Amino acid sequence: MNSILSSLEKIIIKIFEADSSGHDINHLRRVKNTALKIQEKEGGDKLIIAVSALVHDIHRIIQNKTKQFCSPKDSLPKVREVLQKIELNEEQIKNILHCVEYHEEYNFSKEGKTVSDIETLVLQDADNLDAIGAIGIARTFMYGGSHSIPMWIPEINIEKETYDESDGDDPSVIHHFHSKLLKLKNTMNTETGKAMANQRHKVMNDFIDQFKNEWEGFK
Ligand SMILES: [Fe+2]
Ligand SMILES: [Fe+2]
Repeated sequence: MNSILSSLEKIIIKIFEADSSGHDINHLRRVKNTALKIQEKEGGDKLIIAVSALVHDIHRIIQNKTKQFCSPKDSLPKVREVLQKIELNEEQIKNILHCVEYHEEYNFSKEGKTVSDIETLVLQDADNLDAIGAIGIARTFMYGGSHSIPMWIPEINIEKETYDESDGDDPSVIHHFHSKLLKLKNTMNTETGKAMANQRHKVMNDFIDQFKNEWEGFK
């Protein structure tokens, strides 16, 4: 498994070199490590989980290049191309493509959750954990900075019923916490993921409270 992962990492590093959206190689490594940590308690195929984590966000790179929305599903031909360069059989490739295709399901989106295989559920949890907590805060502001999104516009309502990535960016970074990141705790699949998410959610919630207080000059 280690030799497969290290040859894959070399290919992935090249593909992700130019990323400034917070979906860089370090995001992929963190998701892989977190997913394997969850796997220890929840089970699932280690190799499928680790490889899926390293290739799950190729859709972001395609989107950066083409400047057009690219869903995980749209990225599957490119992901397959990468997977065929390393030692995997067709069944493994199919399982990995399945994990990649469904990694961005949320129970607060229009479609809701549709998958039940443990590998995809673990990948979803690990990916969502990297979007919340201290790292989540840092990544969200990095994304805002690289896309000229303001930190906060209190005059714009934060109400949003469902979340759809293809709708485009939220009006401010703080809006994004409300439309997506603060909801992630309730979309976790595994017990291990839920416990980790609760702790990270608190960090993020405290940060937003403090941010808004400072914005108003209260503290
Ligand atoms: Fe993604
Ligand atoms: Fe991701």
